[in-house]
Amino acid sequence: MTEQTLVLIKPDGVARGLIGEIITRIERKGLKIAALKQVIVSEEIAVQHYAEHRERPFFGSLIEFITSGPVVAIVLDGERAIAAFRQIAGGTDPVEKAVPGSIRGDFALETQYNLVHGSDSPESAKREIALWFPDFTL
Ligand code: TYD
Ligand code: MG
Repeated sequence: MTEQTLVLIKPDGVARGLIGEIITRIERKGLKIAALKQVIVSEEIAVQHYAEHRERPFFGSLIEFITSGPVVAIVLDGERAIAAFRQIAGGTDPVEKAVPGSIRGDFALETQYNLVHGSDSPESAKREIALWFPDFTL
């Protein structure tokens, strides 16, 4: 049984020309791309996507950042896809937590500009896939 996860290549990843690098790492890991699109994120979608963080001090700048340019939204399918993508992404703080060899560990310096999002649980994945790909079916 495979599972699905929602991945975003954030505006910094798109602007820095890292779409190919990130997708290469996803494919090398063995995860399958089940849906993919590049979009400019509306504030409504951004606020819903990050709803769990709405009381946090960084929420305003997070929303401003994620709506600042195109993002690539992806549904991945694979064995343990949720944890597998978070493993190759690396920890949230790209210096203190993400290890070398991970996407964030190799390419990012600041927590806000950490290149990628990946769902953190089956419940989040279900909610986020429905938000970004309302018509998604495997
Ligand atoms: P979070 O869900 O905690 O991290 P992750 O992306 O690893 O699941 O936070 C969401 C995003 O918010 C995170 O990727 C970057 C940003 N953020 C900050 O800008 N400052 C912070 O202190 C934290 C915790 C997150
Ligand atoms: Mg998160």
